[in-house]
Amino acid sequence: MVSGTLSGTEREQGQNGHAAAAPNGLEPAALEQAALDHVWIHTAPWEDVSGPSGLLIFDRGQGSTLWDIHGREYLDGLSGLWVVNAGHGRAEIAEAMGRQAAKLAYASSASFTTGPAVQLADLLADITPGDLERVFFCSGGSEAVETALKIAKQVQAMRGFPRRYKVIARRGSYHGMTMGAMSLTASRNETHFGPFMYGVSHVPHPNRYRSDFGVEGEQADIMAARYVEQEIENQGPDTVAAVIAEPISTAAGVHVPSPIYWRMLREICDRHGVLLIADEVINGFGRTGKMFATEHYGIVPDIMTMAKGLSSGYAPVAAAIVRGAVFEGFKEQKTVGIGHLLTFGGHSVACAAGLRNLQVFADEGLVAQGAEKGEYLKARLEELRGHPTVGDVRGIGLMCAIDLVRNKETRAKMGKDSTFAKRLNALVQERGLVTRVWDVMQFAPPLVVTKDEIDRMVTVTDEALTIAEREHAAEIEG
Ligand SMILES: Cc1ncc(COP(=O)(O)O)c(C=O)c1O
Repeated sequence: MVSGTLSGTEREQGQNGHAAAAPNGLEPAALEQAALDHVWIHTAPWEDVSGPSGLLIFDRGQGSTLWDIHGREYLDGLSGLWVVNAGHGRAEIAEAMGRQAAKLAYASSASFTTGPAVQLADLLADITPGDLERVFFCSGGSEAVETALKIAKQVQAMRGFPRRYKVIARRGSYHGMTMGAMSLTASRNETHFGPFMYGVSHVPHPNRYRSDFGVEGEQADIMAARYVEQEIENQGPDTVAAVIAEPISTAAGVHVPSPIYWRMLREICDRHGVLLIADEVINGFGRTGKMFATEHYGIVPDIMTMAKGLSSGYAPVAAAIVRGAVFEGFKEQKTVGIGHLLTFGGHSVACAAGLRNLQVFADEGLVAQGAEKGEYLKARLEELRGHPTVGDVRGIGLMCAIDLVRNKETRAKMGKDSTFAKRLNALVQERGLVTRVWDVMQFAPPLVVTKDEIDRMVTVTDEALTIAEREHAAEIEG
């Protein structure tokens, strides 16, 4: 506990004798120390949190801009974590949440529901593709994925296939960090958390830049889709419950598959009675230039997961939405419910945030804005190809990336943990741009980003690349 850092009036004694701090009552230095002492930053290793560039503590935001507790300004190049699609500082969403909290904050989602949850479910049924129409609300993306997994397994059992428990995911995929979701995540940490959920296998993902099959262009996508069918056949079709994939995966490196890949996946799943789960946790809500990325491919998944942009981060709300046929068994077998309950699923304040957020989308045409600015961003990023470390520029909508390479010819990666990637990250941050620099550098600002802000992102990146390349010249081949 940091003491002696609050002004007298801001300080009160709590019942347990601890000083209760007024919000923002600590001076910046004390707040930073308290953060280091007490906040568990989710995935960052201690070296990063306590290192020279320090831990950023943000204080406020507006549009695509963030300010830290020292008043320093940053461009939010990642929308938080592909979350704040409608932009920061939306008083109208905050007000809708406040009104709902004052009226009714909570009712149990086990047996009841509330007006905002019903309205949001109705709206989601309307805006999602095809006959996706029944919504199970959750609080975050991992829970949505857990929900999708359990729905797939129970529905298969209810359809008379209790042995269909296996799930096929893809290499490079990320589906969350709770145990079931992490079992699907390709970078799962076996050492600390294994053994994982039994019956998960990983297949190649569509990647035309570094094809697993040594082929070029669309052929690489076709091979990746065929591999899914081979895996279903290899596992035994009567044991496979579902295939899960992000329509366009950021974790796997923002490779945009051609429509044939998703059409093939849909056909393959139908042929083998396997449920197709599209994980739209990042892709959804305008991120790729359509409301949902599956719309680029003209297919309807059996289950779709969504989170992040559903409320643009104003409240933790997520969902798994399923097609009519997936829920049908619960109507027929009237006495059977799903063995799944999340206390905060469908929280009325979170649903009010989601509803108001989607009203902003409609009022301001945010999806179309994202598509248009995405084209501009991609075109500007193309100008960085002259850098020896920019191997590829990919993306769609405001979900773009540059692929960082040591060698343009062999396409050898710089690597997520390379000193180059870390230095580049520090350099852009020093210049007021926050984003993620791993194998690829991500560009995913809020859909309200302006062209000037995009220009600034590109200029800062150009400058930072030049410096990092000069400093790391010995590591760059060719
Ligand atoms: C595709 C995908 N699925 C699921 C998740 C998990 O979401 P959450 O972190 O909200 O649990 C993420 C998180 O980034 C994601 O990118």
